[in-house]
Amino acid sequence: MSRSLLTLNDISPKELHQIFKKAKTFKAKIKEHKVINTLQGRVVGLFFEKPSTRTRVSFETAVARLGGKTVYLPSGESQQSRGESIKDIAQTLGSYLDALVARVYIHKTVEELARYAGIPVINGLSDLTHPTQIICDLFTILEIKQKLKGLTLAYIGDGNNICCSLFMGAAMTGMNMTAACPEGYHPNKDIFRNAEQIAEKTKAKLKIVENPKDAAKDADILYTDVWVSMGQEKEREKRLKAFEGYQINADILKLAKKKASVMHCLPAYKGLEITEDIIEGPQSIIWQQAENKIYGAAAVLDFILQ
Ligand code: CP
Ligand code: NVA
Repeated sequence: MSRSLLTLNDISPKELHQIFKKAKTFKAKIKEHKVINTLQGRVVGLFFEKPSTRTRVSFETAVARLGGKTVYLPSGESQQSRGESIKDIAQTLGSYLDALVARVYIHKTVEELARYAGIPVINGLSDLTHPTQIICDLFTILEIKQKLKGLTLAYIGDGNNICCSLFMGAAMTGMNMTAACPEGYHPNKDIFRNAEQIAEKTKAKLKIVENPKDAAKDADILYTDVWVSMGQEKEREKRLKAFEGYQINADILKLAKKKASVMHCLPAYKGLEITEDIIEGPQSIIWQQAENKIYGAAAVLDFILQ
């Protein structure tokens, strides 16, 4: 039976840790240019409705490193641009490919792809969640801090797809998380409630506040993301106003623990949600976080296609 990864809910906390273990192994092997053949003979499609620097290239490279092949299909070059239904696209692509990585505007689209493709579908970002990003991010935190449980992550900014998946990941791993989001930009209520239910078991403390200083105080990790996500370009002016004061900069970093790390999934808009000195500063783990996307992608593919 094909197994998709549409949200972190599709894997158990135990499986999440298995994926971290695989990522560590692949990181060592790929860095040493060892030959890996776990995806030999497999073809993975990348169906992207939105642009991407990291997710596309990390998945393409991961498949190549594991001995498989990829087909990149930007949706604008598919018949979707002329009105072909997702159901028909899914049925067709499913008969050619072994798995599909999809980046979509509306979360329902990845659900529909998974329903009709008959092959595993990996969500490479939807408006609601970005599960593979958070797998790579948690793996990065594990590398730096040697643990997840009991740490406190402060997310500052928009309660978007990244914030929602971070809440899920924090809940699953027992990591505390406080998100500081302005009124009207809080994370999706159902996802937060679901994360709270998971957290009952792991004892992760999850909170939403409105003052970024309250979140940053004594945090182990500060995390931010863009104020205007893909698909929200028309709201740009309104959003820039709403998020004033929600920037990760030297002043806010002073409130966190002395050895706190700073994360951003990228792309970053320097001078808006984060300042350049912080991105390039000694506490930034952003470039390690970006690099780890390939090892996370390799681990997810190996887990899904095992
Ligand atoms: N972080 C991330 O998903 O980046 P891309 O949009 O470049 O894929
Ligand atoms: N929230 C951002 C994440 C980009 C990786 C977006 O959806 O555009």
